[in-house]
Amino acid sequence: MCGIVGYSGKKAAAEIIMKGLSKLEYRGYDSAGIAVCLDGQTKIFKTKGRLSALQELLDKNGAPEGCVGIGHTRWATHGEPSDRNSHPHGYGRVTLVHNGIIENYLHLRQSAETKGAKFVSDTDTEAAAYVIDSCYDGDPVKAISKALPQLHGSYAFGIIFSDKTDTIYAVRRDSPLIAAQGDGECFIASDIPAILSYTRDYYLMDTDEIAELKDGKIRFFDLSGNEITNGKKLLHADFDIEAAEKGGYPHFMLKEIYEQPDTLRRLISMHTEDGAGNIFKSEIPDTSDIKRIFVVGCGSAMHAGLLGKYSIEHLCRIHVSVSIASEFRYDDPMVGPGDTVFIISQSGETADSLAALRLSHEKGAKVCAIVNVVGSSIAREADEVIYTRCGPEIAVATTKAFTAQVLIMYLLTARLAYDRKTVTEEFLKNYLSDMAKLPELAAEVLTDKYVQLYKKFAAYNKPHGDYYIIGRGQDYATGCEGAMKIKEISYMHCESYAAGELKHGTISLVTPGVPCMAIITDPDIAEKTVSNVKEVRARGGHVVLVSSCTGENADICDEYIKLPQTNKYLMPIVAIIPVQTYAYYTAVLRGCDVDKPRNLAKSVTVE
Ligand code: BG6
Repeated sequence: MCGIVGYSGKKAAAEIIMKGLSKLEYRGYDSAGIAVCLDGQTKIFKTKGRLSALQELLDKNGAPEGCVGIGHTRWATHGEPSDRNSHPHGYGRVTLVHNGIIENYLHLRQSAETKGAKFVSDTDTEAAAYVIDSCYDGDPVKAISKALPQLHGSYAFGIIFSDKTDTIYAVRRDSPLIAAQGDGECFIASDIPAILSYTRDYYLMDTDEIAELKDGKIRFFDLSGNEITNGKKLLHADFDIEAAEKGGYPHFMLKEIYEQPDTLRRLISMHTEDGAGNIFKSEIPDTSDIKRIFVVGCGSAMHAGLLGKYSIEHLCRIHVSVSIASEFRYDDPMVGPGDTVFIISQSGETADSLAALRLSHEKGAKVCAIVNVVGSSIAREADEVIYTRCGPEIAVATTKAFTAQVLIMYLLTARLAYDRKTVTEEFLKNYLSDMAKLPELAAEVLTDKYVQLYKKFAAYNKPHGDYYIIGRGQDYATGCEGAMKIKEISYMHCESYAAGELKHGTISLVTPGVPCMAIITDPDIAEKTVSNVKEVRARGGHVVLVSSCTGENADICDEYIKLPQTNKYLMPIVAIIPVQTYAYYTAVLRGCDVDKPRNLAKSVTVE
């Protein structure tokens, strides 16, 4: 995610754009930049680092004057955070800012370079600027309309043409963009918080609709160049700035939980042709040379590794060793040349995980990083990187980054199975086809019908001090992540137990009313766990059954969350979302600081 702001009016654009960007830093903070027009010239200032670094640059050089401009705060997806990869980017007569991902940018750059084009950054955005410039013959709307079909992926652009510096053009596909109308001034922005200080009246821009901002007025055009004069509804934002940064959600964590259908959809389309069984695009590396696999991470990242272990061992018949990074680094691990170590880390800065990476290199292993932050330390030092690309995750308790990590593990499973032919082509085709449906299932378990159940169980659970999650196989690993969520944000003691282990200890803790969640997604061993559930209930435990394959078992549970069913090896992504959401409501009911839980940090960069 990135943040875009544009201004056209009578006031100094620089100050308004900077203030707007400051409300969008939650969308990205790797670098920032601004382009302001005056007397036919466009001045660009941009720098790596947070918005404050750009402000320092403006303070030092004097803010560019002019009443028309665009600005950007970046979350790097292609090209690590640096001055030259910062937006705005330009090519020829085009200067633009971009939020989104141009998926065919490599092809665009390569074909441009064969025609002599020279690029100065590593970004997909610069390729977009080149394409729009190559289509420009003096008519901006026509140029944009001609360029868009060549740009595959998601985008929201703010564009300035060097011979029309009194005007801003904007267009979007999939990435959010609004056009806002003030008194003799108008704005574009990725999100409403950027403009609330100036106006509350805005238009939602539709896909492939072009906006022209000139002399404080907004006009809309379709791709044929026809002005759109009817039907655009001017909306009025009546919520406050803080709520707007959270997209209207009360907490970033809930916003990020609800982002998961989109983050999963984006990741799947980025790595598989169309999810209908066509095998992989780039980034999921060829795995033919992989012999032994080690997965290392901390917290939820390690839990994603546990789920990857289950699917890889079952479908690819390769042994996978999963380690907690802080253990791995002092364990003198049996890692060596020919081994592959996957380091999973949202931030890419966790000290223990970085140390595990360096130790793996010292021992001669190859390291593949699965990270969210482009250009982070772990990303830079790994031999290969697979990005989870789910945008900035603000809440300390990870949700969307976790399911993205698990999805990457499942994509790796598919690649390993494909390279090793450990599954039939038919199975693989169905696996990928089922994977493509995961976003729908993620959205389904977030519908109100389900949320009411999560809230109901959260209310039951609130006064209790202990809480158990049981499951077998992959469900045990999902339970580990669920228990982590409960502990992190609601400060309740919660443990995940392998269901078969109950009789070896934990069952002594089950007294009447103790809340216990059972996760059952594997039909092949469901009956075994159902027996364990009955053991819990026989001792008065209050059981919430989260299951896709045990039928209407009202007699074995007190609450029943019936999961939509899909390929059992993909079910943990469907099962964890109810558990995340339930944990969220439990924390809210217990009055905890959901986004910033006590004692925790989003990334622990010290030992
Ligand atoms: C903890 C976070 O501090 O670190 C967890 O609260 C996270 O959400 C863990 O799973 C590992 O962090 P990272 O950035 O390496 O995934």
